[in-house]
Formats: sequence, structure tokens, C-alpha cells
Amino acid sequence: MIEEISACDDQLARDLEEIEKIIFGTAWPSKTIRQKINDRDFKYWVYKKDRKIIAYLGIQFTNEFIEVLGIGVIENYRKKGYGSELMTELVNYFNDAPYRKILLEVRESNNNAKNLYANYGFKQISKRKNYYKNEDADVYLKEKIYV
Ligand SMILES: CC(C)(COP(=O)(O)OP(=O)(O)OC[C@H]1O[C@@H](n2cnc3c(N)ncnc32)[C@H](O)[C@@H]1OP(=O)(O)O)[C@@H](O)C(=O)NCCC(=O)NCCS
Repeated sequence: MIEEISACDDQLARDLEEIEKIIFGTAWPSKTIRQKINDRDFKYWVYKKDRKIIAYLGIQFTNEFIEVLGIGVIENYRKKGYGSELMTELVNYFNDAPYRKILLEVRESNNNAKNLYANYGFKQISKRKNYYKNEDADVYLKEKIYV
């Protein structure tokens, strides 16, 4: 089940650092994660199975918009809909929040993630050259539409 994380203790911060490291090889230090969540600069959602985090989505708030820090599912659990469930949480949160845009960067070659973002109404708006050491990033945007 999904838990929304708006307050963070040492253990949870270590767990979040660990899952980021497992999935991406790098992570924010747990102290930073803890402080930023408790200062309301970051917010996370985690998917837990048997009390273990198997997927997460992290966002950062800037003045004008929400930026996705990362979304990741432990390899054995991919393609089972957990990434989509986390994106649904984000979009539901965004719809009620006082922000007009969600921005994110994704490796040009990461078609799995790009498909997921497209499913949720994100559009590619630009490219950042060599944003990753040896690869460009595609910048994706989702805007609130007022009718
Ligand atoms: C991207 C990621 C989060 C998707 O999570 P997931 O739980 O596997 O995704 P879901 O099962 O909910 O699938 C959602 C959509 O993603 C896309 N997708 C996911 N895996 C895919 C694959 N192997 N091939 C093609 N599309 C894929 C599809 O559009 C899929 O929707 P569909 O099944 O209706 O076609 C996961 O693959 C992952 O953790 N990747 C490594 C980390 C990463 O690259 N994160 C994104 C950059 S921050």
C-alpha cells in the first residue's frame, strides 16, 4: 500500500536513501532527506510490501512548481503497476495543490519512464544537453488546465 510521507524520522530517511541507492546508484544523504521532508521542501510517497519499501516517488517544491526528484520501483516489482499507482498519487495531489506545473528530467534513452510520464499527460518541452554525465535529459512538463 502507498503511504504519503510528510514527516520523516532517522530510520525512514535511511530507508529512502537505501532505495534510491539501489535503484539509481546515488542518493541524497539521509540527513538531507529527513531535513528537507520535515521542512516541507520535499515530499515522498512510498509503496510498502510486508513493511518494506519497494517503490517510491519524491518531489521538491520550488516557488512556482513541483519538480519530480525521482520515481523508482525495485527491479523485481516492475511492470506490475506500482509506478503508475505512485504517479496517480502525485497527480491527485497536484490537482488540489496551489502549483500550476510539474517538471521533471529524464534520460533521453529511458523509454520506460517516458512512456509512464506520457500516460499521465506530461509533454516533452525541451532538452538539457549533457545533463547526465554522458547523456542528454529530456525535460517534461505537466500543466494544470483551467476550464
Ligand atoms: C520507470 C518505472 C518507475 C516504471 O515503474 P513500473 O512500476 O514498472 O511501471 P508500471 O508497471 O506502472 O507501468 C507504467 C507504464 O510505464 C511504461 N513502462 C514501464 N515499464 C516498461 C517497459 N519495460 N517497456 C515499455 N514501457 C514500460 C508503460 O507505459 C507502462 O504502461 P502500460 O503497461 O500501460 O504500457 C520503473 O521502470 C523504474 O523504476 N525504472 C528505473 C528507475 C527510473 O528509470 N526512474 C525514472 C527516472 S527518475
